[in-house]
Amino acid sequence: MASPKTLEIVTATVPVLEEHGTAITTVFYKNMFEEHPELLDIFNETNQKLGRQQTALATTVLAAAKHLDKLATLLPQVTQISHKHRALQILPEHYPIVGKHLIGAIKEVLGEAANDDIIDAWTEAYDEIASVFIQIEHGMYKEAMWQSFAPFVVTKKVAAATDIAAFTVVPAKDNAESHQQIDLSKLTLTAGQYITVKTDPKDSDHVALRHYSLYSASTDAGIQFAVRRDNRNEHHGLVSNYMHDQLEVGDTVLLSAPAGDFALNQDLVQQNEIPLVLMSAGVGVTPVLSMLEAQVLANPKRPIIWVYACQSEAHHAFNTEVNKLLKKAETVEKHVFYFESGQLLDEAWLATLPEPADIYVCGSMPFMESMIDGLVTLDHGVDSVHYEPFGPKMSLGG
Ligand code: HEM
Repeated sequence: MASPKTLEIVTATVPVLEEHGTAITTVFYKNMFEEHPELLDIFNETNQKLGRQQTALATTVLAAAKHLDKLATLLPQVTQISHKHRALQILPEHYPIVGKHLIGAIKEVLGEAANDDIIDAWTEAYDEIASVFIQIEHGMYKEAMWQSFAPFVVTKKVAAATDIAAFTVVPAKDNAESHQQIDLSKLTLTAGQYITVKTDPKDSDHVALRHYSLYSASTDAGIQFAVRRDNRNEHHGLVSNYMHDQLEVGDTVLLSAPAGDFALNQDLVQQNEIPLVLMSAGVGVTPVLSMLEAQVLANPKRPIIWVYACQSEAHHAFNTEVNKLLKKAETVEKHVFYFESGQLLDEAWLATLPEPADIYVCGSMPFMESMIDGLVTLDHGVDSVHYEPFGPKMSLGG
């Protein structure tokens, strides 16, 4: 537990660090990668170039520092980040490296303004925050279905939309490298989870890791996940283009065990009063498709409202699979919006949703923000709106 003096100094200096947040984290990453170039194999090069991870780590450490005396209240958010860390195989020994360079960067940017008391207080605060992450991740490593990255063979690759490829993979028989035998029939996947692939794309000097959501929690055929080709600008698509253009049936890909806590509220799956609303945009359909399947299997009587938005009919992903599953449910509504045709999924439309409802939202950050803002304005409680953005989101709020 941080001392009262530390709490006081940290609280008083958060605004100054917030003001210099981007400068501090830019210096932090530069220095850390200079001393530990091996970490470039863990961090997402694309996010680095776009400055996305910079903001995520900075805002999270600062937000956590604001709640230093009651870190337990941040557990849901920490858990979500920790799932990603475990999936990326971040280990306890990585934390002091980040700590050293983060504190070093604070010193470098603030100069003389950062006296010894301030540096000591922030060192203590970082250690305290890091220990919460390390403890939670320790539990996650123990529970993971397998350790590190294990080889899987691609058995199926199909187009789910013009820009989305759906992969099925099974554990490789020749698995000497990872020293663990993975038995597909013993894996318990949860709808909404993601796997993490480790690839070595030709166009990069580094190994690259990416999370992709499962589109089914069934393991009958293998582990199934979807990848959207990301071609929005020069920095995008390093891994997704590799997966689309080079990874073929018969090839091997390395996967860490499924992770994530975007999951159906199990207390509501068996009842039929509160409907399930699954809202997604683009490739965000992936985790909610697996939830649709799970709900229909567990209780097809529960009313389901399916809401999907994408650019155009060509971009409409998994439509056949969705229709097949919706046919198995007793009471369904399906609403599709094509942006290119001017069909708007806006607050006026959100107002037509029933209340109470158990709502799951997945898509790009702007989509999620507008949906969540709209739903909360319409008095849907935060506990009934669940979401999983793709790409770095994080801020621990307030
Ligand atoms: C992702 C916070 C320590 C490596 C993230 C995210 C946050 C975060 C907020 C974004 C999660 C998301 O996308 O939803 C923190 C905090 C830390 C910490 C507060 C310390 C207390 C570390 C350490 C490492 C690490 C020690 C490894 C050296 C990563 C990587 C990602 C990530 C590789 C994925 C994003 C990317 O590749 O751009 N972390 N982290 N983090 N973190 Fe951490």
